[in-house]
Amino acid sequence: MGVDGMFDYFRQHRILLAPMAGVSDEAFRALCREQGADLAFTEMVSAKGLSYANEKTHHLLRLAPGEDQVAVQLFGHEPDTMAEQAAWIEQEMGESLAYLDVNMGCPARKIVSKGDGSALMKDPALAAAIVRAVRAAVSCPVSVKFRRGWAMGEETAPEFARRMENAGACAVAVHGRFAEQLYRGSADWGAIARVKEAVAVPVVGNGDVRSGADAVAMVERTGCDAVMIARGAEGNPWVFAQAKAALAGEPEPPAPNAGERVAMARRHARLLSEREGKNIVRMRKHAMWYLAGLPGASAARAKINACVSVEDFDAVFDELLAYGGSSA
Ligand SMILES: Cc1cc2nc3c(=O)[nH]c(=O)nc-3n(C[C@H](O)[C@H](O)[C@H](O)COP(=O)(O)O)c2cc1C
Repeated sequence: MGVDGMFDYFRQHRILLAPMAGVSDEAFRALCREQGADLAFTEMVSAKGLSYANEKTHHLLRLAPGEDQVAVQLFGHEPDTMAEQAAWIEQEMGESLAYLDVNMGCPARKIVSKGDGSALMKDPALAAAIVRAVRAAVSCPVSVKFRRGWAMGEETAPEFARRMENAGACAVAVHGRFAEQLYRGSADWGAIARVKEAVAVPVVGNGDVRSGADAVAMVERTGCDAVMIARGAEGNPWVFAQAKAALAGEPEPPAPNAGERVAMARRHARLLSEREGKNIVRMRKHAMWYLAGLPGASAARAKINACVSVEDFDAVFDELLAYGGSSA
């Protein structure tokens, strides 16, 4: 798919669920897609992990029930390993792979200390070599996700984007924070607009979109071709329905009530259990997010932290709804 093809693709896939390690698994992706996300990213996948045929890593590539396509994000810093594993993923996933993204934005210490993620923004020559190698190894589109820059106050994203484009990136995704900023402060959408001006490939905007109105504002202020949502979707897959409506110029659907939030949490737990078995400890954080702000949610926190199975979660949800009374 050439650059024109990518513009067409994003015209039809304007709202994306961001890659989120530990969060954007099959269950969560299924619910976000159902609510209107046009495409969802896998959790980031280690190229090194794949090269060791690591079972845990392979598991990240499984599609959710009903998921037609998924975008896969790879992280690593060795061009050869990245290229080999990108080719393996493409061969393994075939038509179910929408495109491949290279992670150059993750600021976590355990990632950047190995030279992966946003550390690559400090070495644009290596970053470009990775993109060239991956691009040469696959026939699907390749994108790069990065930040406003590495060091606080030093915006390198527009220049970095141009280098990635020249190296063969078919699209870029920009989170408007510096790597050193982690998740503090707010995302600067001006950086996304400046990247948009700097390159001729599609630009995906990311950072602080939490409602349909935010999605519209980001598109208006930056000219981005698609909007990517991460934390705004935690416990809130409805944000995609809101973004979809708002971008279409329609009224946003009302926020879910307590009963709807609990019902979604129950479904989420079941979907996780279908894929992972009886132990769904990773549901704990999702449960907290679904319940945040509801009456009784703080009291439920300790109980959620002891839940392991669907039945355990159901018991806490039942109790919470009883506490909330008819308002649920
Ligand atoms: C729990 C969590 C996990 C994340 N994992 C990844 C990841 O695997 N790859 C990546 O590129 N970004 C990752 N991110 C960053 C998000 O994709 C996104 O760029 C960032 O959260 C800003 O968007 P937001 O304001 O919509 O949350 C993660 C963020 C969070 C909160």
